[in-house]
Amino acid sequence: MKKILFASSEIHPLMKTGGLADVAASLPIALHEMGQDIRLIMPAYPKALLALEQIEKVASIKLAGFHWPIEILQSTLPGTDIVLWLLNSPTHFNREGSPYTATDGDEWPDNAARFALFSRAVVAIAMNQTGFNWQPDIVHCNDWQTGLVPALLSSEVNRPATVFTVHNLAYQGVYSQEAFEMLDLPQRLWSSVSGIEFYGQMSFMKGGLVFADQITTVSPTYATEIQTAEFGCGLEGLLAHRVDDLTGILNGIDMAEWDPAHDPHIARHYTAKTVRLKAESKTAIQRKFGLPEKADIPLFGLVSRLVSQKGIDLILAAMTALLAKDEDIQLVCLGSGDIEAEQALRVLRARYPDKVGVEIGYNEPLAHQIEAGIDLFLMPSRFEPCGLNQLYSLRYGSLPIVRNTGGLADSVVDATDANRQAEIATGFKFEESTAEALTACIARALDLFKRPRLWRKVVVTAMAQDFSWEKSAKQYLQLYRGL
Ligand code: ADP
Ligand code: GLC
Repeated sequence: MKKILFASSEIHPLMKTGGLADVAASLPIALHEMGQDIRLIMPAYPKALLALEQIEKVASIKLAGFHWPIEILQSTLPGTDIVLWLLNSPTHFNREGSPYTATDGDEWPDNAARFALFSRAVVAIAMNQTGFNWQPDIVHCNDWQTGLVPALLSSEVNRPATVFTVHNLAYQGVYSQEAFEMLDLPQRLWSSVSGIEFYGQMSFMKGGLVFADQITTVSPTYATEIQTAEFGCGLEGLLAHRVDDLTGILNGIDMAEWDPAHDPHIARHYTAKTVRLKAESKTAIQRKFGLPEKADIPLFGLVSRLVSQKGIDLILAAMTALLAKDEDIQLVCLGSGDIEAEQALRVLRARYPDKVGVEIGYNEPLAHQIEAGIDLFLMPSRFEPCGLNQLYSLRYGSLPIVRNTGGLADSVVDATDANRQAEIATGFKFEESTAEALTACIARALDLFKRPRLWRKVVVTAMAQDFSWEKSAKQYLQLYRGL
């Protein structure tokens, strides 16, 4: 049995801006079920505190870089008995808005200080300096918010081993040299070759990549891609240098939460055997968005952060062209993000009110209802470390249309004739990041949709895919054991 301290800025259902939160709950649950002593730590955001029932103050610690002692609270991850610690510094974390931005969308000006403090608390627990009488064997850090943990731990004697998982290399936590000076970090960390200096600035992400004993990312293809200039965001050289310590492990999903046979949010439960009942979820979602309740019209869906990564512009271009041709299709969208993309979706809705439904915002039940109700899920990402929505779509028999990159490449099998005959096809894939390539791929999907018997076969294969955590959690465990 390994003792693992798992640090993440977001953990579902306490705080979530993206897939990191889903993974930071479901992977620890899987490891816990495999008998590991895994404990979680995250910042005490107000929303997280409200969602927890029993919270106890278990430590008060003095951390470098801040004058007052800071509390650590203890609770359990909802629905489990996994220990959850929360770093309670109201000055840093008691704020409305997202963990990273104010309600107006601007980054909090003190993000470097906030996540340096979080990292220092993780280090204090890792070094058994908080009075918990528990020292982990492994500290598993996630994304830039925890990047300073491996860096700070690197100089400690009798330290636990460190694993750093990259969920998205595009968000690096880069701050000025002045910010570095203000954080009172060891000066030895300021180096461009063996430290966190990155083109004259400080990179939290680099702290993880340089100093962690092992680096992982969330799909095998992304692990290869980030060693190239196209996907490496300036860190490709470092990643290529560390290739022997870099592993791609595909994310799993929470099979209980995303299960069309038991999902409390959807109109009617269904399985691969009763997939015709999916039609009731389709009617429900059409009604919800005020679209004609037609069973045989292909219904496309989108649930996403509306940012360039996700290829929203490609979707807008391809869908606008299809709708202009008076193609008999429907589209429902749920998301929020870039103002221009939000506005463009609203405009599309206004132009085609009987074909397009849009909700701007974050809405968990609706995300489930869309997954259940649609026929096709659009995910033409420019890059995608793993992607969870295509996995949810497969499980709900909503065929994903994806670009051949990252975790999308590793989880969807294109419905070519050969793959369909071999009964391994699960969705539709295209290569080029262009609206034309997406449009051509959509045309292939629409062709197959017109042949319900063949379509049904692909749906059943998609639903039979196993993206439970079992396999991937074992890979993490193997990695921990090797440390
Ligand atoms: P990323 O982390 O890059 O945003 P993922 O596909 O890994 O992409 O995970 C996205 C997660 O966020 C999924 O659980 C998805 O259902 C959820 N999500 C994204 N946008 C919304 C939204 N507007 N409302 C509800 N859930 C959303
Ligand atoms: C990031 C990535 C996404 C991945 C998620 C969880 O947000 O953008 O592809 O699925 O992290 O690992």
